[in-house]
Amino acid sequence: MEVKIFETKEQMGIYAADIIENVMKSKEYPVLGLATGDTPITTYNELIKRYKNGEISFKNVKTYNLDEYVGLPKNDKNSYYTFMHEHLFDKVDIDSENIHIPDGNPADIEKFCREYDREIDDAGGIDIQFLGIGRNGHIGFNEPSDKFTEGTYKVKLTESTIEANKRFFEKESDVPKYAVTMGIKNIMKAREIILMAYGFNKAEAVKNMIEGPVSPSCPASILQNHPNVHVILDKDASSLLKK
Ligand code: PGA
Repeated sequence: MEVKIFETKEQMGIYAADIIENVMKSKEYPVLGLATGDTPITTYNELIKRYKNGEISFKNVKTYNLDEYVGLPKNDKNSYYTFMHEHLFDKVDIDSENIHIPDGNPADIEKFCREYDREIDDAGGIDIQFLGIGRNGHIGFNEPSDKFTEGTYKVKLTESTIEANKRFFEKESDVPKYAVTMGIKNIMKAREIILMAYGFNKAEAVKNMIEGPVSPSCPASILQNHPNVHVILDKDASSLLKK
């Protein structure tokens, strides 16, 4: 794991955008694995800026998002579909046919999940996967458990995740209790990974990810076994690391 520590979220976003730009320019049809939440926003802003300056284009880019809430209408203000369009897709030249976000309301969830996995494979696999980390060490919505997950699946969210997500909803009871997420195996198949975290509330999860044993009790710790991971932190998120 390459670990880089920065002063500000903006610097973190610039560094992540450099890595993503590099991938976008080195492939004719780049495949990006994308994330939602507060963490990727400075990176998306930087990519939008570079697109507006004519430095990069999303014309040939395919994207696969990590996850989506189950049960929210696609256009709900809190859906990840809405998030991605507001924070990236509506502001760049991506072809809507190349955007893939898990369907939170499929008629047959199991069938949908197998199709999502197959589509990623058919696209040639993910060139670079962006990840945030939950306070409980989750990546995507792969919550702590007793085994590492495989392909895309429907997951019951933990209390910790529901608590962290309730800031976006009027009442806690409105926060979805289930999500569809890529599994750990999907994430580990990406050729390159960026994991970004800032703030004290991520410090414990970051420590467990980097210094703890590889264990499904901290799903992000599996990244110790991946050959090409960039961990991008601010000082607060890195504050519990030994070195
Ligand atoms: P955040 O979420 O970027 O909103 O902190 C990260 C995550 O839970 O994976």
